[in-house]
Amino acid sequence: MAVLEIVKVGSELLRQQTETVPKVTKKIVGLIADMIETMYAADGVGLAAPQVGILLKIIVVDVGEGPFALINPRIIKAEGEEIDVEGCLSVPGKQGYVRRAAKVWVDALDEKGKNVRIEAQELLARALQHEIDHLNGVLYIDLLEEEIPDNGVKGV
Ligand code: NI
Repeated sequence: MAVLEIVKVGSELLRQQTETVPKVTKKIVGLIADMIETMYAADGVGLAAPQVGILLKIIVVDVGEGPFALINPRIIKAEGEEIDVEGCLSVPGKQGYVRRAAKVWVDALDEKGKNVRIEAQELLARALQHEIDHLNGVLYIDLLEEEIPDNGVKGV
């Protein structure tokens, strides 16, 4: 496993559309392990593949219940609305209020290539929406309601 370099705002890599992963190969599983290690090294709670310069639809998340990866994730349903603070490992030193759905349902493949459906609320719902935005070249700073000084909320 390896800690990868996190791509920072200003790089075009963060603004690209990503490719669907056709098959969960050993290489993909290895990339996921590196992404999880990178997320922990940066003290984050989520990371998307474009943030390590890989333009594939892969995200990893750990909101305190253990790490997991989602491959080709897509939001199939969203409910409610919530404004809260978020930050991004690719936008250091900044945080801000972003409006997100309060609850989302996400379909994806897991690390074994199996279909999974995640029902998420609170921090997990926010992290998933933030990471899935990364897969479409969208950063939270595009959606900011209000920027605030870094107050220690963990980045995604
Ligand atoms: Ni981010």
